[in-house]
Amino acid sequence: MKKIKVALNGYGVIGKRIADAVNLQEDMELVGVCDVVSDWRIKVAVVKKYPVYASTPESLKAMTDAGIPVKGTLDDLIREADVICDCTPKKVAALNLEKYKLAGIRSIFQGGEKHSLTGHSFVAQANYETALGLSSTRVVSCNTTSIVRVLGALKNAGLLKKGHGVLVRRSTDPWESDTSGIINTIVPELVIPSHQAPDAKTVMPEMEITTSALVVAETISHLHSWHVELTRESTSEEVLKVLAATPRILFLKASEGLRALNETVELMSDLGRSRGDMYEVGLWSESLTVQGTELYFNYQVYNQAIVIPETIDAIRALSGIEPSGAASIAKTNKALGMIQGDVLEYVMKSTRA
Ligand SMILES: NC(=O)c1ccc[n+]([C@@H]2O[C@H](COP(=O)([O-])OP(=O)(O)OC[C@H]3O[C@@H](n4cnc5c(N)ncnc54)[C@H](O)[C@@H]3O)[C@@H](O)[C@H]2O)c1
Repeated sequence: MKKIKVALNGYGVIGKRIADAVNLQEDMELVGVCDVVSDWRIKVAVVKKYPVYASTPESLKAMTDAGIPVKGTLDDLIREADVICDCTPKKVAALNLEKYKLAGIRSIFQGGEKHSLTGHSFVAQANYETALGLSSTRVVSCNTTSIVRVLGALKNAGLLKKGHGVLVRRSTDPWESDTSGIINTIVPELVIPSHQAPDAKTVMPEMEITTSALVVAETISHLHSWHVELTRESTSEEVLKVLAATPRILFLKASEGLRALNETVELMSDLGRSRGDMYEVGLWSESLTVQGTELYFNYQVYNQAIVIPETIDAIRALSGIEPSGAASIAKTNKALGMIQGDVLEYVMKSTRA
């Protein structure tokens, strides 16, 4: 089988997870990872036997001085690959698009960049087929991905009239909490609606939704609390049936001891997920409430991991190796061991099978 050759630029929170996930796909080969740092962060890539490249002349020297076996520069890496995933910081990535275009390599950007950069924003279950063969796309941010998965499922089932989500956001990622983040306060975002709902509409323009956001003093993940107006009277059973049939959403039950964000991450670690990652939206099914045409629910977005399966699907879509979104989602889900529906029922059942 011909494998898609994938390069990775920016081996940080998102980039290192994408590299590991690419490595798990039968139809992909990771040809190298590129960064500017020369400390523990990139030395781990050497330990994992990933070919390491330096993004700039300065970093090439610093890496070589630090004893890192550098294979070449970003330009060398680009020549090796069919698709590049750019996971460098917000706004840095945008500067690379022209380079990728000139080299004729397909490129995938992350949610820190604007929709206008690529003119296409991606969530696999909503618009995989529209990305087939494109030269570049943007995998939307963690919060936006969750909104498209959940509110998009309600829209597709004909249930969503309009909705407002309150986003409780982690203030920084755990590895950098010594240098950024907030402590002992809550910071409301100044603009309402916040940018996430409009961003979700770059993928599903027909959704009538708004969001507002608060940043809180924790680093574990985000929590969304949604109030949805339904198109007609419904029941919690009907809504849960729709969500259970949707890939990449799992159900958390407080009655099983899963009461808060920290417990979910602990469960994922105990199940053997790399870094305790939860790629799915984790929705509290028992507290989902329908009162006539009003629907209320809470879910967790593990921001460091939710966009990883989407990026893997985006690689297949741009390369054109898999024409069907559903087939790509199934391959990615299998390779990453993803769960659908009630988390504990699912894992107990797969253990027995
Ligand atoms: N962290 C999250 O929870 C999260 C979730 C979803 C999407 N995103 C998006 O993913 C993208 C990357 O975010 P992140 O959190 O992984 O950032 P990060 O800071 O953890 O990682 C960025 C990496 O890029 C490297 N880098 C910096 N300048 C570079 C350059 N010129 N060339 C090559 N490498 C360079 C850094 O050394 C670092 O390793 C952003 O668009 C962000 O908005 C982040």
